[in-house]
Amino acid sequence: MTRIITRKEKVDKAWWKSAVVYQIYPGSFCDSNGDGIGDLKGVISKLDYLKQLGVDVVWLSPIFKSPQVDMGYDVSDYRDIHEPYGTVHDVEVLIEELHERGMKLLLDLVVNHTSDEHPWFQESRSSRTSAKRDWYIWRPASYDAEGRRKPPNNWKSNFGGSVWQWDQDTEEYYLHYYDPKQPDLNFESPELRQAIYDMMRFWLDKKCDGFRMDVIGRISKDMSFPDAPITDPSSEWQDFRSQNKEGPRVHEFIREMNEQVLSKYDIMTVGELNHTPPEMMLRYVHPDRKEIQMGFAFDHVNVGLGPAKGRHIVEPWKLPELKAILAKWQALRDAGGWHALYLENHDQPRSISRYANDSPKWRAASGKLLALMHSTLFGTIYLHQGQEIGMINCPNDWPLEEYKDVQTQNLIHTRRYRVIERGRDVDETIKKVLFKARDNGRTPMQWSAEAHAGFSTAEPWMRIPDDYKECNVAAEAADPESLLSFWRETLAFRKRYEEELVYGSFSLLSPDHESIFAYIRASRILVVLNFSDRPTTWQVPDHFVGATVIRGTATKESPFSNAGLDISLAPYQGLVLEQSL
Ligand code: NOJ
Repeated sequence: MTRIITRKEKVDKAWWKSAVVYQIYPGSFCDSNGDGIGDLKGVISKLDYLKQLGVDVVWLSPIFKSPQVDMGYDVSDYRDIHEPYGTVHDVEVLIEELHERGMKLLLDLVVNHTSDEHPWFQESRSSRTSAKRDWYIWRPASYDAEGRRKPPNNWKSNFGGSVWQWDQDTEEYYLHYYDPKQPDLNFESPELRQAIYDMMRFWLDKKCDGFRMDVIGRISKDMSFPDAPITDPSSEWQDFRSQNKEGPRVHEFIREMNEQVLSKYDIMTVGELNHTPPEMMLRYVHPDRKEIQMGFAFDHVNVGLGPAKGRHIVEPWKLPELKAILAKWQALRDAGGWHALYLENHDQPRSISRYANDSPKWRAASGKLLALMHSTLFGTIYLHQGQEIGMINCPNDWPLEEYKDVQTQNLIHTRRYRVIERGRDVDETIKKVLFKARDNGRTPMQWSAEAHAGFSTAEPWMRIPDDYKECNVAAEAADPESLLSFWRETLAFRKRYEEELVYGSFSLLSPDHESIFAYIRASRILVVLNFSDRPTTWQVPDHFVGATVIRGTATKESPFSNAGLDISLAPYQGLVLEQSL
């Protein structure tokens, strides 16, 4: 287990610590004008629903002008809105409507890269002497012994191929960690940094309440661009990210951003920080550092992913691994930091499919189990749209064309999957890759059993799973036993027990137990979760014998057996007990 220096200091309270954040994927949330694409007016029409659910903050994935190569994570104008989503005025109305309800808005800050259609890049690529040439990262070619042109190093892009793209006109390569249409910005340029800060002020002055910061740990690069070690001999391009190395100036850049912009507003900041173990995370989120408030860690969403498989295929994993990961991150509290607690987002499979059991028999129980876990761990809660009604991964039999994501399409249409699973049945391999596909978290929101799941009156941009007829907001809102009702009550329960569940200490019990995840919060709340499809009995710690059940996923019967020494849990049942005083 990773060591963090333990200082069980009293935790300071803040609105952004106890908040429940709800992520909206704008194209897939609610379509108000019948073009098959979600939009801002659609979001506004659902604010009362979100308020009732217990949401405090809405995080919108990128809404800015963009050619949508990567669903808006390729911005071509930071101060304008992607036309099908609406206008800047719609954002202003959204902020007003949120604030009237006591809610807040987080925008997605995508500043590691822009679209190649951004005027900054157009200018940068116009000539080697352009005033904005150094707003992006340009390098001359290298040549092999036969005189063949080669990129400056062997780094592999997140979406496949080299991170370098040749520009024929100016005869240099530019850097792109993602698609070639997403050139990386050069934070070494002070003018570029000031342009970013101005853009951030533009939205903050419109009273947006903070930012989710896309791949913020990557904005500083080792400008010598050394080759990465060869970890995949079958490929020309190598993973340069997984060695937990950060760019030499990353903290300096974020601190400057904080000093010049963030610190001037009462806002929330959460950074996306893959490949950042807890000790490194603390350097971003400890309040003394004056950088950001919390980060999205990736260890739990990566459970079962072997690096040798290119991190696209989930291998069998066991509950103790997941428990150890979650517990490790809970320790951030004791070290004075904060944590962003999520199970799903637009880059991940659905949590019921990933961590529990999405078969018809256990789907609902699994959803409640995960809801109880999510609501009783330490950290600011992030819910992804559809998680609250138990949406699961896309059906296994969908043809490949239903998957729209550039990463998925690249994976399945290049040789990549054959390389990683050479010799095995390709269809099976593709299924495994698709299980992890980002599209699983991107299908349109299932509002009702009506045509197109009530998401739109037109054919949606992405297919909706057929299960929308049963799994939808309208049906679940009318059912007090549904997952949606359970989430609503459980979030209210978390607020009632804020002292313990938001701010209290955490300790893991029975770390090696293969089906029970049990932990104590604030020394007096015990959470016991059965992650198996079999009834399971577990011995309660002495001081919880006969404790009071204050929340549970299933039965109303007493869970105690053996004179109160054991508790018995049904498959996928979860319980919260409070020590009797
Ligand atoms: C992380 C985002 O969550 C993902 O969707 C996107 O493709 C990359 N960053 C690039 O912006």
